[in-house]
Amino acid sequence: MKSKSLVSIDDLNTDEILGILDLAEEFEKKPVQNLLEGKIIATLFFEPSTRTRLSFESAISRLGGKIVGFADSSSSSVSKGETLHDTIRMVSNYSDLIVMRHPIEGSARFASEISSVPVINAGDGANQHPTQTLLDLYSIRKTQGTLDNLNIFMVGDLKYGRTVHSLMMAMSRWNTTFNFISPEELRMPDEFKLYLENLGLKYYEHTDFTDIISKADIIYMTRVQKERFSDPIEYEKVKNIYVLRNSMLSNTKPNMRILHPLPRVNEINPDVDSNPKAYYFEQALNGVFTRQAILCKFLNIK
Ligand code: CP
Repeated sequence: MKSKSLVSIDDLNTDEILGILDLAEEFEKKPVQNLLEGKIIATLFFEPSTRTRLSFESAISRLGGKIVGFADSSSSSVSKGETLHDTIRMVSNYSDLIVMRHPIEGSARFASEISSVPVINAGDGANQHPTQTLLDLYSIRKTQGTLDNLNIFMVGDLKYGRTVHSLMMAMSRWNTTFNFISPEELRMPDEFKLYLENLGLKYYEHTDFTDIISKADIIYMTRVQKERFSDPIEYEKVKNIYVLRNSMLSNTKPNMRILHPLPRVNEINPDVDSNPKAYYFEQALNGVFTRQAILCKFLNIK
């Protein structure tokens, strides 16, 4: 039987998601364990990354596994013209699991169909980023004590931001109220809004959120994805459209938390960092424990 891959967050059912979050809690208590001894994990990053690659590699190292791969495809035979098909066929011979980031939407699904070992999507273009979503869910549950009935504000680039696409799909399982805040040019794509409509879930679209900020349980800020714009002038128009400042947070719920997948550019002013409601750096740390759980799940390690 072909091994299971994680390409979309919908590749996991709700019990599997909750199982990964529970396992991540165990890794947070005891992050160093020799569970991946003898396993080789390939990390293939065709796009830049700091958190996803390094937290995966930290997770693998803390569990005693070995890493092969590249952080820059120009150092691989892709630069000589080797196709993604052939690259994945080769690397699946050399490893027990592949973690891949690629700029083309659908590339992770394509890789999973070729690979003889599980493929974990570490971001495919503007499509999905399911391991980010699992660490986001972990962070939301940890800070709110529940995933149920929350009011989540997604702010910024909802068109190209793959993290909000995956998170929206995941949170739709827990009766979430969604507030989508973006400029007209960067609205949540219709396919994702249709996804919510088919489930009978509510979402609201806004271009500003200062008047409604008191309703938020989670404010999920996002970077405008410069690398996805074909016209630099269009990017310049929207790049600084939302800047969250500490002065805006006085009228927010005591338990509200600010998340951001990072990297940030200007969308969260550094004066927010010392506010106890800022949670983005802890969120990034949670990525290590969550990715330890993901590796064990997809390598079938009990
Ligand atoms: N959140 C995230 O994907 O960050 P990196 O691009 O640094 O991996």
